[in-house]
Amino acid sequence: MTLRLDYSNMMISPGGIDQKAWSSATSQFSEAKRGFEQLRSSGAVGFVDLGGDKRLLAQVESFANGARGKYDDVVILGIGGSALGPIALRTALRPSGWNMLDDKARGGFPRLHVLDNVDPETIAALLGRLRLERTLFIVTSKSGGTAETMSQFLIVHDRLASAKLDMAGHLVFVTDPKQGALRPLADQLAVPALEIPPNIGGRFSVLTPVGTLPAALIGIDVKALLAGAAEMASRCETSDLTANPAGVYAMLQWLADTQLRKSIAVFMPYSDPLRDFAAWFVQLWAESLGKKRKDGTSVGSTPLAALGATDQHAQVQLFMEGPADKTVTFVSVKERSENLEIPAGFPDSKELGYLTGHTLGELIDIEQRATAGALARRGRPNMTIHLDRVDAGHVGQLMMFLEIATAYAGQLYGIDAFNQPGVELGKQFAYALLGRPGADAAKKEWESLPKPDPNRVV
Ligand code: PA5
Repeated sequence: MTLRLDYSNMMISPGGIDQKAWSSATSQFSEAKRGFEQLRSSGAVGFVDLGGDKRLLAQVESFANGARGKYDDVVILGIGGSALGPIALRTALRPSGWNMLDDKARGGFPRLHVLDNVDPETIAALLGRLRLERTLFIVTSKSGGTAETMSQFLIVHDRLASAKLDMAGHLVFVTDPKQGALRPLADQLAVPALEIPPNIGGRFSVLTPVGTLPAALIGIDVKALLAGAAEMASRCETSDLTANPAGVYAMLQWLADTQLRKSIAVFMPYSDPLRDFAAWFVQLWAESLGKKRKDGTSVGSTPLAALGATDQHAQVQLFMEGPADKTVTFVSVKERSENLEIPAGFPDSKELGYLTGHTLGELIDIEQRATAGALARRGRPNMTIHLDRVDAGHVGQLMMFLEIATAYAGQLYGIDAFNQPGVELGKQFAYALLGRPGADAAKKEWESLPKPDPNRVV
């Protein structure tokens, strides 16, 4: 069955969205949807159509088929939107502990490592234990110039060259069809290069070869993933708010933030396979919506990742009794690939006996419902995304649902959800400090900043 969003607990009284605000949501949504559709039809934004993109799928399948059996390890060099999607897909759609399983348990598919940083401790350790001759490096960068990814690439290129390994057999690029440093390098090194369409940016790119190439290489059913995404995209074509799940989600989050001052959006799957999915969502929501509007006001709710049931023993106390500034989105999963019965061990024990006869699947599900109910009882609005199971089709639906919701929310906030001007100044300062040509203005600005005051260091 298709993904369902139960938002009953967002409409609680007191504490939730009131009926009057919800009634006027219909026309606000129509306007937001119209704005987003204009972006789509102008060609500026392309991610919604990825589910049906046969050309990109063919690129991915052809490369993955040719790579079958050649590699034990695949390593993604990339950061941010080029890394979080593949990590989320691996954790959600491959058996638990994938990289620790032996070759047979992995069905002959390779391990998948994603760098997503430039901490030398991690990278040196990983490179130190890989057999380079059995490793494929995917260099993923939309812009083809991100300092972290280019540094990772330079190190790997040097290691491959020192080991006298053929670049074309150990590197593949995933990048913009035209811009950036990787395109000409692909020609120069005769390295294959797959495309990220120009109108799809990092955090919206998981359903391009950014996510689908590594997914296919490790045996994930990419066709089902894309079919799930296409199904959700088609559900969200409607302008009828009550039938458009992404519309409902965006409206509720926006109303909660702007009218109820719920400026923190907690995302809390009750599912270990979706643990890294929460980190993917956090980047999507944060980098898309945390913006300055044209009038100079700052907008955007702050996403926060949590995991059920684990965070019932860490963050839920704050969600229940801390500042009433949060919404909580639960993700509940009906069927899991494994279940365990809780055996009768100590039937006379008050603390243990009642657990007997239940399964761990029941326990985690009941705990999610209990937490949602308890939050609602205390006037803390929350909603639950229901998935039948965590498989490729449902993950595709979930990704497309949240991407479209983010795009709608951008319209509601009156900002561009697809840029990230706020990270530019930090980048320019880093370029200045690293001596990149053309960073003179940033260097001057950096040097004009007040120096650290020794009296204010303890
Ligand atoms: O979502 C985004 O656009 C960013 O997080 C990018 O993915 C990140 O900065 C990496 O950029 P690139 O893919 O151009 O190397």
